[in-house]
Amino acid sequence: MTNPTIQSIKERRSVRNFEEKNIDKELLQEIIQAGKFAPSVQNKQPWKFIVITNKDFIQDLSLQVKKELKNVLKKRFIKKFSIKELKDEDTLKHIYAFAFSEKDIIFFDAPALVFITTEDRLFFDESCACCAENMMLAAHSLGIGSCWIGFASVLGLKKDMMQKIGVPDKHHISAAIVFGYPKEKPGRASIRKVGSDIINWIE
Ligand SMILES: Cc1cc2nc3c(=O)[nH]c(=O)nc-3n(C[C@H](O)[C@H](O)[C@H](O)COP(=O)(O)O)c2cc1C
Repeated sequence: MTNPTIQSIKERRSVRNFEEKNIDKELLQEIIQAGKFAPSVQNKQPWKFIVITNKDFIQDLSLQVKKELKNVLKKRFIKKFSIKELKDEDTLKHIYAFAFSEKDIIFFDAPALVFITTEDRLFFDESCACCAENMMLAAHSLGIGSCWIGFASVLGLKKDMMQKIGVPDKHHISAAIVFGYPKEKPGRASIRKVGSDIINWIE
């Protein structure tokens, strides 16, 4: 069974290789508009958006993310800073690779970076995640690639960076997504876990 919505959901891939070409402001507005139609707790629509298309600024933020990742790695032996994920070898290797890479493997030289920010309140982050997925699906339908950049959240560890980005008072970065025209057609989606392993039917 399929229809254009289901097909589009199944086709969307994270894109990490972009054309130099900028995205028109109207298209970015359209993508955000789709985000605004996501479900949200008590219909509070708790999101705000920061849209960055200045390449030097994105480059600078990429360096800041790497700097913060290095700090996180350095501090991991101090008990009060220890994060349980860093005990996992694979995650640790992953973060090392990101932190010490010469290339921009944080924001992938994307022409647009959007932060979705929100307050630390019940189900606000979940609402923002719905908004983020809407935006990525809308982008895909417009021929624009996207990738959620979880690592960007480390910018929240630096108050001055949050001010520089213009994150509103009491808000944190809930999602960071890069957008751009894909350089190549992304491959098929990776294999998904089979239903029998992850679905428990109670009939
Ligand atoms: C919360 C979240 C954080 C993510 N963070 C990153 C990231 O920091 N860097 C990156 O390259 N991809 C990131 N991704 C993208 C995932 O790696 C990607 O969605 C996953 O491998 C599945 O591939 P697909 O999106 O092509 O289906 C993130 C995705 C999510 C949902």
